[in-house]
Amino acid sequence: MKESRNLLSIYDLTEEEIYFLIDRARVLKRNRSLNMTVCPLSGKKIGLIFEKSSTRTRVSFEVGIIDLGGYPIFMSSRDLQLGRGEPIKDTARVLSRYLDGVVIRTYEQERIEEFARYFEKPVINGLTDLYHPAQILADIFTVYEIKSGEYGGGNKRKKKIRDIVKNLKIVYFGDVNNMANSWVSLQSLLGFNLTLAVPQGFKVDNRVEKEAKRHGGAFSVSHDKIAASKDADVITTDVFISMGQEGDTKNSRKIEKLKPFIIDDAVVKTAGKDVVFLHCLPVHRNEEVTESVFERFSEYVFEESENRLHIQKAVMEMLF
Ligand code: CP
Ligand code: NVA
Repeated sequence: MKESRNLLSIYDLTEEEIYFLIDRARVLKRNRSLNMTVCPLSGKKIGLIFEKSSTRTRVSFEVGIIDLGGYPIFMSSRDLQLGRGEPIKDTARVLSRYLDGVVIRTYEQERIEEFARYFEKPVINGLTDLYHPAQILADIFTVYEIKSGEYGGGNKRKKKIRDIVKNLKIVYFGDVNNMANSWVSLQSLLGFNLTLAVPQGFKVDNRVEKEAKRHGGAFSVSHDKIAASKDADVITTDVFISMGQEGDTKNSRKIEKLKPFIIDDAVVKTAGKDVVFLHCLPVHRNEEVTESVFERFSEYVFEESENRLHIQKAVMEMLF
């Protein structure tokens, strides 16, 4: 029986653990800027199995593992026998004997779940078609930093993380994909106000909805972009066509339906002066967000990318 813990979705954590990880990420971020190191992964070999492209996830995990004293081993599925049809359960059983943990980016959530059943050490989800938990943790950490006044080196922590997060109104615009699902899952645990501003007919996956309900989640769906933006603290979006969907013949119709949900000046103006825009990247300028809105908030967006490193280090300390 496997005793170690995974992060396959945000539901592998409790609310308290998420606050703990944010707090720990703050410390690791500060320590890194002071060149202070800790080596909890000393001697550990961590595999990175990627079945899709990646810039941020791959590099932030590799750097994070090295920062923590471990040794990352990157494996593209193109080079593994996995890419030639070796079953995932056999790959897991073999790698279990070499490695101390794995980060995987793959397609179906069931595929990472199967890997995790056969791999005896911790497994972290580096994105599936369903969820992107490492990204959503970085996003909420970034929101916390900005809304608490700590962003940019300020040290003005007056409120508890919980009190800041619970009172947020977060609006996600665009495609109902792994990022939208991840916001839904995070809302279920942290209880902020979440609206999905999406076209008619765009629905949250059944499994995502069921899991959210089971955890006490509640989110609104709006088909009116401007009404949804009112008083938002955070506005966020993601690409209209995700990895793995590129060849779909229905994509041009899908993009036509999504076009009105672009984050533009009208959305920002309706939200108000303290609104924060986030994007997990890579961005398609003038598709899901206008160039001018993206550039106006780009400092926050690139901080969000940097924060992948710090919060993932906190996760790896906890799991590996
Ligand atoms: N946001 C994110 O996961 O980026 P990559 O696809 O570059 O890893
Ligand atoms: N929804 C996007 C996220 C990329 C980080 C995708 O899956 O391609």
